[in-house]
Amino acid sequence: MSAGRSDGCICRARRYRARMAADPVTPPASPPVLDRLDRPVEDLRVSLTDRCNLRCTYCMPREMFGPDHAFLPREELLSFEELTRVLAAFIDLGVSKLRLTGGEPLLRTDLPDLIAMIAPLPGVQDIALTTNGILLPRLAGRLVAAGLKRVTISLDALDDETFRRVADTPLSVRAVTEGVEAALAAGLSPVKINSVIQRGVNDHQIEDLAGWARDTGVTLRFIEFMDVGTTNGWQRERVVPADEVQARIHARWPIAPVEPDRQGEVAERFRYLDGAGEVGIVASVTRPFCRTCVRARLSAIGELYTCLFAATGHDLRAVVRGGASDEELRAAIASVWRARTDRASELRTEGGLTGERVEMSYIGG
Ligand code: GTP
Ligand code: 5AD
Ligand code: SF4
Ligand code: SF4
Repeated sequence: MSAGRSDGCICRARRYRARMAADPVTPPASPPVLDRLDRPVEDLRVSLTDRCNLRCTYCMPREMFGPDHAFLPREELLSFEELTRVLAAFIDLGVSKLRLTGGEPLLRTDLPDLIAMIAPLPGVQDIALTTNGILLPRLAGRLVAAGLKRVTISLDALDDETFRRVADTPLSVRAVTEGVEAALAAGLSPVKINSVIQRGVNDHQIEDLAGWARDTGVTLRFIEFMDVGTTNGWQRERVVPADEVQARIHARWPIAPVEPDRQGEVAERFRYLDGAGEVGIVASVTRPFCRTCVRARLSAIGELYTCLFAATGHDLRAVVRGGASDEELRAAIASVWRARTDRASELRTEGGLTGERVEMSYIGG
């Protein structure tokens, strides 16, 4: 059983071409900027910090991200004013979805101020936040007041022992589930949960996590362990393939695929036949989805990455601080996007990717 992904050209590009065919004389105000594989830029993931208050072994192994690790100095980060200007430029080029991420974005406790600045930007259809949830009891109310509508919380186990081992923390699962409760109580909706599953580490938690999410009214997405970055010791044997996760859930609570809302969706969605909502699977290793990838990423210091597996980014902070006009900023972004050919997950070999790659904690989940 597969949710099925439609390949081929992306709907916005297709709509644009259909519109041009119907009326070639008056082109729409802003034609979409397409990359070399015909993909528009629609979704921007914005990393607000490379720091985190956890040390998940698949993301920030403590041996590599210990006390000596050189995190980005605070003064290097884009100010919220600079960031808002960069986001506005992306929106002009076709971005309508923003995801605020990290590291752990809630470590920037003034985050509600940023949300209040970007929520009113014309063209923003969706702002989401990816967090480990620990600071949500403190911040959820202020985030909602600032205009945040929804949140995605990372949680990989429901038993304390596994959670502590995976997140490399003395905290207990309650520290995260209290964040989930705070998000729900503050009215954030939907609340989604991301669980990265690794064989022999937390795969025994699949049914428990799914059952808990069904009972709690949150949408869980199981994520295949990826070879993102170069520090997490990825091995293919540790990947639990989407097919297996799907079959295990189906055996316990029958599920059926749901058609994607839009092309380029990361998670394949399934509905529980008993009406208890949906569950998702992100199969970036066994069913890569580069063909419809409309995602750009911005580091906390304003580098544009065109792929999660890129080695380097393009310095937009220099463009902004160099006094560029809005037009010049848009042109700089558009020229990077037009040259884009990335399809790393499709090119992954059996043994995994080779060469330098940015860390996920630097560029965002
Ligand atoms: P929604 O808008 O809530 O549906 O979010 P999403 O489907 O974009 O998912 P989310 O941002 O929560 O991403 C879930 C996980 O999917 C990430 O943490 C990554 O592990 C993986 N992922 C997201 N985007 C990409 C991508 O572009 N490439 C790859 N290979 N993996 C991705
Ligand atoms: N594989 C898959 N997903 C990862 N994330 C971080 N590292 C990895 C990895 N190696 C994602 C998870 C987490 C989010 C912050 O980043 O979804 O919830
Ligand atoms: Fe922090 Fe999220 Fe990475 Fe875990 S996965 S170390 S919570 S950024
Ligand atoms: Fe997009 Fe790169 Fe992920 Fe493929 S591997 S879906 S191109 S970010």
